[in-house]
Order: sequence, then structure tokens, then C-alpha cells
Amino acid sequence: MTTYATHRHYLMCRPTYFAVEYAINPWMDPSRPVDRELAIAQWEQLRRTYLDLGHTVDEIEPLPGLPDMVFAANGATVIGGRALEVQFREPQRADEAPAYRNWLEQAGFPVHAAKHVNEGEGDLLVVGDYLLAGTGFRTAHAAHAHAQEIFGRPAVTLQLVDPCFYHLDTALAVIDERTIAYLPQAFSPGSQAVLRRLFPDAIEASLADAAAFGLNAVSDGHNVVLPVQADGLAAALRDRGYQPIGVDLSELRKAGGGAKCCTLELRGSTR
Ligand code: ARG
Repeated sequence: MTTYATHRHYLMCRPTYFAVEYAINPWMDPSRPVDRELAIAQWEQLRRTYLDLGHTVDEIEPLPGLPDMVFAANGATVIGGRALEVQFREPQRADEAPAYRNWLEQAGFPVHAAKHVNEGEGDLLVVGDYLLAGTGFRTAHAAHAHAQEIFGRPAVTLQLVDPCFYHLDTALAVIDERTIAYLPQAFSPGSQAVLRRLFPDAIEASLADAAAFGLNAVSDGHNVVLPVQADGLAAALRDRGYQPIGVDLSELRKAGGGAKCCTLELRGSTR
């Protein structure tokens, strides 16, 4: 199959103040040391990878006291040049929402106020005409209908059931307009049936690849940036004509995040 890359515009946040100071997902253990310098170097490599692929990367200023702000995917959802503000479930991350909101407004994106808990692209993924919308741990079900109303795209609710895969973008990767990869057992039986119906040709990932954050991948339609450790998924992607590109984000994984978590796609921007 021929696959095509399209130019992407991303927003990232340097992990200047990255730390694991609290535990709001099962990957986080504040007693385990984190090497911030290494986290910054690994993040820098991710940013460089996007630039080398020809994508545009903007940066938002990191704020002290917000150790998870590096996870820019949770900063908003941006489609067609319009943004939906986030509202974090956990109080430790609450102050990230206005920071991202201000950045987007200053960049010229109209921002719709959040009405319910929604953690941005962590739980709202665009695939073709649809919004795949996760719930169960973070984003509230009611936020799906709000996102559908704002963006005019049908929101398909997917129920997450495994706390290790607490955001949709840890359990499901959008590869192109028709193709996804996912870990079936991270979803309720009904949601698994929905995914099989909508995506009969989806790539099913192994638990090992998902646990390596392989599904926390960033695709431009051809190049798929994912952790080097997710080799089974990389092979499956290569078989289908995609180009997997391995990056090592071991330090950020200690906070429960990977490549996609560090990357907010700004869709429909003018630059
Ligand atoms: N420590 C962060 C949290 O639990 C990690 C966020 C990961 N982001 C993502 N898009 N999955 O909120």
C-alpha cells in the first residue's frame, strides 16, 4: 500500500521543570529518581525528529511547578483552526489549562471554553471525519458531546478499562485517515466491537508494545514516530508501507507519557 506524509504543525513544551512529584497514573512513582537532563535530551531528539521530517514545531514556555506540562497533547484539542480548552481532572495539572489557552489565543486560534473534564488530545483523537473519544479515567463522557458540537464531527465514545492505559492515546494510535492501531483489551467489550466495526483492518498491538508506549505514536500519514522498544508494532507498520521511526523517551515514560503525549497537533493553522 502506498502511504503519504502530509506536513504537520505541532506544539511542544520543553521538560525544563519535568519531575515525578505525585502519582496520578500507575506509571508514576515519586520515590523513583528521574533524570531531568536526560528527559530534556530525549525530548530534544523527538523535536529534532519532527523538524527533520519537515514539520513545523512551535514551543510553549514551560512553567515552574507544573512538572507534567511537557505533555502538550493534554493542552487542548485543535481542529480546523479552532481549539477546545482543556479541564484537567487532577488538581495538580489544573494550571496548565490557562497557559495553553493563552498560547493558542495569542497564536490566533479561537478557543472554546471547556464545560466538562477533558484532557485534550489525550482522549480526543481525530481519524478521518470522526473524533474518537476516550472516557473511563480522565475525560468525562459529557465532554464528547461538547467536542462533537464544537468541531462538527461525530464523536465515537470509547470506554477505557485498564488504568495503565488511562488516556485514549496510550491505547490507540491514529496512523492515517483510515488506519488505527490499538490494544483491544484496553477497551470495554462494546467499545472493542465498535472499533472492529469501524476499523476492520486495524493493527492490533500486543500488550508488550502498548506497555512500551508504542501506541503513543505520532504519525504524519507515512512516518510513524514511536518508542524504539515497540518493535512488534514497528514491524507491523513497516509491513503496511509505513516508515516507523524509533525514539527513546524512557525518562518521560516514568510519568506515564510518550511521543504523542509530548505533541499537540495544531490542525488547520495558517502557517
Ligand atoms: N503524568 C501525566 C498524567 O498522568 C501524563 C500525561 C500523558 N499524556 C497523554 N496524552 N497520555 O496526566
